Amino acid sequence: MILVFGSLNIDLVAQVPAIPGPGRTVLAPSYQRHFGGKGANQAVAAARIAGPDRVRMAGRVGRDGFGDSAIQNLRTNGVDTDLVVRADEPTGCAFITVDQAGENAITVASGANMEAGADDLPAELFCSDTVLVLQMEVPFAEALKAARRTNSASGIVIWNFAPVPEKMTSAMVTELLAATDYLLVNEHEALDAARAIGLSPSHYEAAAAELARTGGLTCIVTAGPQGALAVAADGTRLRAPAPRITPVDTTGAGDTFVGVFAAMLGEGVALQRVLAVSCEAAALKCLTTGAQTGMPMRSALASLA
Ligand code: RIB
Repeated sequence: MILVFGSLNIDLVAQVPAIPGPGRTVLAPSYQRHFGGKGANQAVAAARIAGPDRVRMAGRVGRDGFGDSAIQNLRTNGVDTDLVVRADEPTGCAFITVDQAGENAITVASGANMEAGADDLPAELFCSDTVLVLQMEVPFAEALKAARRTNSASGIVIWNFAPVPEKMTSAMVTELLAATDYLLVNEHEALDAARAIGLSPSHYEAAAAELARTGGLTCIVTAGPQGALAVAADGTRLRAPAPRITPVDTTGAGDTFVGVFAAMLGEGVALQRVLAVSCEAAALKCLTTGAQTGMPMRSALASLA
């Protein structure tokens, strides 16, 4: 069973000629409302591969219309939402600008996500079949508790170190690494995590190797068009290429990778193949606007044919 403990947001997305810098205003012709939140995105990506009722989402939304529709959307995608709890704060909301190259800038108003608690998770969820998926959009201490409960039950912890917190201490990263089996990061996140624990790698590949060795884990770096790299604790490396595409919107590409990675790993697939399928799915996502809209169903993946 895949358990995603994380954020649910509504994304308000505007296409702009260029992402504005500080003090600047830019006009967009309109905006779209999409479902988002790294946790919910990863749950949907996993469910589109694993199938209905194989993925459970745990987190918090407000007692508002955004919360209603975020829950309904997960259900429509076959994700179990019994562990999505209503909170006093409003449902999380992300304000996203996407430029003409498909790159984005995101501001997240966390709202209810900051009330998410690991105590919402019943003990029977944690067993050796549990694949726990975490990100950095709910309170770190709660995510760490969930990770440690999974460790104690001999389950698998996949931790996507995104977004990198503003206030990140060496102790936080050390604890995270100790509780994680698969650390999933992009190039910048790999370097940030390594620097937080006093390392000074010059390149993401060196950062991945240091993180893997330090944490006794496998570190996977997603590097956009350069594909993905996995480095095991003993330094063994695997690589998978990314299909060549012209991106329309990269929002949610990393989440697609993480969700598909969790689904494939949960099926016991070998890591090399897991990387290849996850890279293909993330690339396909980038062909459509919105974090979840373009996430592929299993049948759309050539690497799974
Ligand atoms: O990774 C993309 C996601 O980040 C968006 O859906 C947004 O909600 C933010 O959480």
